[in-house]
Amino acid sequence: MVSGDMGVRGMTRIDGKTAVVTGSANGIGRAMARAFAAAGGNVVVSDVLVEDGERTVREIAESGGTAVFIAADVSDVAQAEHLIANTVERFGGIDILANNAGIGGGQLRLHEVSAEDFDRVIDVNLRGTFLCSKFAIPHFLARGDGRIVNTASTYGLIGAPKAPAYCASKGAIINLTRQLAVDYGPDGIRVNAICPGYIDTGLGRRGPRLTTEEFAAATAIREKAAGMQPLGRQGLPAEIADVAVFLASDAASFMTGSIVTVDGGCVTTFNYGEASN
Ligand SMILES: NC(=O)c1ccc[n+]([C@@H]2O[C@H](COP(=O)([O-])OP(=O)(O)OC[C@H]3O[C@@H](n4cnc5c(N)ncnc54)[C@H](O)[C@@H]3O)[C@@H](O)[C@H]2O)c1
Repeated sequence: MVSGDMGVRGMTRIDGKTAVVTGSANGIGRAMARAFAAAGGNVVVSDVLVEDGERTVREIAESGGTAVFIAADVSDVAQAEHLIANTVERFGGIDILANNAGIGGGQLRLHEVSAEDFDRVIDVNLRGTFLCSKFAIPHFLARGDGRIVNTASTYGLIGAPKAPAYCASKGAIINLTRQLAVDYGPDGIRVNAICPGYIDTGLGRRGPRLTTEEFAAATAIREKAAGMQPLGRQGLPAEIADVAVFLASDAASFMTGSIVTVDGGCVTTFNYGEASN
C-alpha cells in the first residue's frame, strides 16, 4: 500500500476511520476519544461507567464529532465480543482499537496483595487487551489493515515501588504489543504501545480499596516524581491522546511493535527510584 518517495505527507488524520477506545469515560481514554474524533474518526466510547461515558460522547458531539457509547467490561469475554460486533454493526467496520482501560492495584508490596486483587488488575489490564484485540483482529485481517494502540505505562518498563500487579500487567502489555506486531505485520496490522509517565487523571482515586493514607502516599510519590523528571510536571491526558492519534494514523505507517514513552523524560532520569523514598 505504501511505495516510493512519499514526499510531504501531512497524514496525522484518521478521517472516516472507526476507532474503539476502551476506558474512555474518563482520563486518558476520554482525551483519546476526543482527539480521535477531532482527527476525523468515528469514535466508539466504551467503559463500565455509563454516565461518564455518555458525557464523553456528548462532549464529542458538541464539538461536531461523531461518537457513540457502548458499555463493556473489557475483562469479560461476552462483553468484549459484543463491543467489537456492535461497533462493526453500527459503523460497518473497525479500523482502530485503543486498548486503554486500566486499573491500578493499590500501594502494596506483593505479599500484602490478595490473589483476587492481583487477578483483577491482570484481568482488566492484560486480559482486556487480549480480548478486545482477539475480537477486532479478524475484522482487520479481512480488510488487510488495522491499527492497535495499547496504553501500557512507564511502570511496565521499570520496577516501580509497591505496584506488583500493575507493573506485571503493563510489562506484559508491552511484550504482547511486540509479539502481535510480529504475527500481524505481514497482514497490514500495526500494533504499538504508549507508556505514559505521571499523567494528571483520576487513576488511583477510583482504584480498588485505596485507603485515604494510601492515596495520600501515592499522591506524595506522584508529586515528588513529577518535580524530579526533566520536564518538571505531570503530563496532561491530551499529551497522550495526540500520540495515540499519531500512532493510529497513516503518519506512523512504518511503525509497529514500537513502545513509545510519553513521560516528560521520567524514565530517562537516574532520580526515578528516589521518588519512592
Ligand atoms: N494516569 C497515569 O498517570 C497513567 C500512567 C501510565 C499509564 N496509565 C494508563 O492509562 C490508562 C488510563 O488511565 P487513566 O489514568 O486515564 O485512569 P482513569 O481511572 O481516569 O480512567 C480509566 C477508565 O477505565 C475504565 N475502566 C476500568 N475498568 C474497566 C473495565 N474492566 N472495562 C472497561 N473500562 C474500565 C474506568 O471506568 C475509567 O473510566 C490505564 O491503562 C492506565 O494504566 C495511566
